[in-house]
Amino acid sequence: MRADPLQFLSAELASLREQGVYRRLRVLDGEQRARTAVDHRSVVNLSSNNYLGLTTHPRLRERATEAVRTLGVGTGSVRTIAGTMEIHMELERRLAVFKKTEAAVVFQSGFTANAGTVSSVLTRDDAIISDELNHASIIDGARLSRATIKIFPHRDVEAARRVVAALPREQRKLLITDGVFSMDGDLGALPGLCELADEFGCIMMVDDAHASGVFGANGRGTIDHFGLHGRVDIQVGTLSKAIGALGGYVAGSRALVEFLYHRARPFLFSTSHPPSVAAACIAALDVLETEPQWMQQLWDNARFFKAGLQALGFDTGVSESPITPVIVGDAGLAMQLSDRLFEEGVFAQGIGFPTVPRGRARVRTIVTATHTRDELQFALDCFKKVGAELGILQ
Ligand SMILES: Cc1ncc(COP(=O)(O)O)c(C=O)c1O
Repeated sequence: MRADPLQFLSAELASLREQGVYRRLRVLDGEQRARTAVDHRSVVNLSSNNYLGLTTHPRLRERATEAVRTLGVGTGSVRTIAGTMEIHMELERRLAVFKKTEAAVVFQSGFTANAGTVSSVLTRDDAIISDELNHASIIDGARLSRATIKIFPHRDVEAARRVVAALPREQRKLLITDGVFSMDGDLGALPGLCELADEFGCIMMVDDAHASGVFGANGRGTIDHFGLHGRVDIQVGTLSKAIGALGGYVAGSRALVEFLYHRARPFLFSTSHPPSVAAACIAALDVLETEPQWMQQLWDNARFFKAGLQALGFDTGVSESPITPVIVGDAGLAMQLSDRLFEEGVFAQGIGFPTVPRGRARVRTIVTATHTRDELQFALDCFKKVGAELGILQ
């Protein structure tokens, strides 16, 4: 019998079990909703990025279904060969208007938008100056580019300035930050970094995955929130979170978009979205323009829930968004808290290293526009009970 060459993976998994951080995939029995059934248990769901509840919005459902009927279920090709339909172009035009840029290009995901853009725009001769907590897709894109990577402490513009100033003046530089940091819910240091980019002629890039649909007028994101239109060269967004469907996009100049059409490897070498996905995204943009009540409800709920967790005495870090971490430190404890909450009827995932630094493990909560006050109060009561039981609350 042939020895299993992947045997070492089982040892790795055993080690995860020993550390108490082995995770089984939770399975939703039905739709992605604020209260939903997960592993056959009805729970208040605080784990999704479905900020506005658009995963099940009737207008998106209708447009997607219509697109399946009229355009089929797939495209059968990458965008650059035969996989571009008029509906893909329409979505890109709509996103450019939404983000107030000349043009936009859609990728298969936010991950590929970041990784594909950073790795194609920068080369081994260039430098990337990146916030230490930027998303994994930015880190991977930076590594693929082979550029020199310089990390600055989280949101520390002065430290970023020292890094930039020490690099050769003529070297091409990309300054990059998340708009909203997905594990802490705080905002990137956009105004200060834009100043720095202006001063040193850096390319300025913002990943607004968690900000689109959440911050700014009609959910235009952090660039709109901070009044920085025209000062961020590369804006990334995702269609997989507040927009409720799937995909990512880059908004910027026409030249940037045309360049990415030619050079971004995920765009070139991976099949385009089914038309139903593009249709749902277009409908989501219609909803953002015409149904402001969802953003209003999202923020009302976020304020209520965050204040509730803080009043109970939890360490919620520095969040400024609907993402509120409950930081407990030890990864095993975070997983225990998450598991006990689940037994009580609240679904909030535990998150440890390498997603967050060691010693900063947490249960991450995200409220949505569609949670009711009763559901959020129930979740707070469960946090109180389990927090006391595990000795997190005194
Ligand atoms: C900050 C950030 N950027 C990018 C992504 C990737 O987006 P997507 O899920 O559309 O691939 C995520 C999502 O996990 C994220 O949190």
